[in-house]
Amino acid sequence: MITEEPLTTEENLPENKVKQYRERGFVAIQGIISKERAARYREAALELAARRRSSFDRKVFTQLVNAWRESEPLKELTLDPNVASVAETLAGGPLRLWHDQVLIKNPKNSAPTEFHQDQPYWPHANSVRPISAWVALCDVPVERGCMTFIPGSQQRTGLAAQDLTDAGSLMSLSPDLRWEERITVPLKAGDCTFHHGRTAHMATPNFTDDPRVAHVVIFIDAGTTYRKKPHVVTDSLDLEDGAPLDGELFPRVPVRPE
Ligand code: SIN
Ligand code: NI
Repeated sequence: MITEEPLTTEENLPENKVKQYRERGFVAIQGIISKERAARYREAALELAARRRSSFDRKVFTQLVNAWRESEPLKELTLDPNVASVAETLAGGPLRLWHDQVLIKNPKNSAPTEFHQDQPYWPHANSVRPISAWVALCDVPVERGCMTFIPGSQQRTGLAAQDLTDAGSLMSLSPDLRWEERITVPLKAGDCTFHHGRTAHMATPNFTDDPRVAHVVIFIDAGTTYRKKPHVVTDSLDLEDGAPLDGELFPRVPVRPE
């Protein structure tokens, strides 16, 4: 019988992980879900990619936004109470779901995801502690496309949206970031990183023969309101500027069993 390390939960989350997250803007967590569940969700992600096979295929990665609306297994992961309650503890305030996305780097894809912050892409106001869980659905060593972060970069506010296909994009907006320390975080299946929406991050290329499959669950402050600008999640919703982001697309989390 293979015995697994116990999961990391809200109850056993070490205090120093919270401190690390608040200071550096990211943290690695072992065993946010079991390896058995990671393998199941990996299959579901690949199945959804085959079903959607569409304009979302890009050079850097295949991106499947709002996977939870179309895949029951991925819905279970996106609304997983353990992922959300650890996110809430790290963020330090009430959260709701913004969206999820499966990100697949195809085998032998030499394109990195270049440095960027996430928050400048989003049509949000009143969101001070957005937090993303990047869950590894397969083993992700450095050569398969793991994340690299610049500690403390969540303090950089007000930057324009950056181009994640251009290595110079973020660095031209904030040149001193070039000289900051970078931390690269390989993950095993079932592990995750959490990062703040403004923490600068990139992912290495996938030089291996297997797809790199990650599922990212993005949470925002429960009181986030809509700030009008184009975004694939909100474009079809016809929201007024200043409207609360709520309703069934943006549920409050963690969803506790009744
Ligand atoms: C990636 O997984 O390639 C990038 C993830 C991100 O930008 O959040
Ligand atoms: Ni990102």
